[in-house]
Amino acid sequence: LIAFFQKKSLAGKKVLITAGPTFEAIDPVRGITNHSSGKMGFAIARAAVEAGAHVHLIAGPCDLDTPLQATGQITRTNVISAKEMHAATLSLTDYDLFFAVAAVADWGIAKPSKEKIKRQGKEAPNLEFIANPDILFDVAKSVKTKAGKPHPYCIGFAAESTNLEKHADEKRKRKGIPMIVGNIGPETFGSDLNQLLVIDANGSKKIAKAEKLQLARQLIQLVAKKI
Ligand code: CTP
Ligand code: CA
Repeated sequence: LIAFFQKKSLAGKKVLITAGPTFEAIDPVRGITNHSSGKMGFAIARAAVEAGAHVHLIAGPCDLDTPLQATGQITRTNVISAKEMHAATLSLTDYDLFFAVAAVADWGIAKPSKEKIKRQGKEAPNLEFIANPDILFDVAKSVKTKAGKPHPYCIGFAAESTNLEKHADEKRKRKGIPMIVGNIGPETFGSDLNQLLVIDANGSKKIAKAEKLQLARQLIQLVAKKI
């Protein structure tokens, strides 16, 4: 009902979203991942569809239903690793907004074993890591200007353990994006509640603690004004 009365601020717009964790295989039965639940990215996908957008959601392994699938306004691509998420994201070009909400693993295993690594009679394996590609950075490299505005408009997310505003703003500049959203926390991973700090070149604005879907709706209204 709330969605029905909401202004369709993204009517006709195309929105790309990465969400959830990634999983980096060690062998066919083991791997490395993180605590991202995907809830924030999926809430943003829902809020964008409510606002009239067509959404492409690229999701790492997470146990969440695709929101508002019956509308026909949402496409979902499931991926496992950061490399797969990078390839799926960079294969798409036609969109107006990009929300990088995924908690992408920074490192993958250099040579995952094709067979299960056996414990019997062996020392603990020394795993070699390699750096994964930075999806958001690579998308931001191809941004053009359309009607005086960056297109697609890219929004990053940052979870920092200290000095959120300073570190997040440095990250925004390093990635070459106009906006970054900081998780104020403390309870973010897996929680339905969150609070956000939205940072752009003009400064920062807090979105007070609320359900992730309420935060997502506020964020969508804020971002809609930028494009
Ligand atoms: N991100 C990405 N690809 C990566 C790593 C991060 O697209 N390989 C995106 C995330 O989706 C998020 C933003 O970059 O929107 C910031 O992620 P974060 O992990 O906070 O930043 P990093 O650059 O990885 O720096 P660090 O983890 O060292 O703080
Ligand atoms: Ca990281």
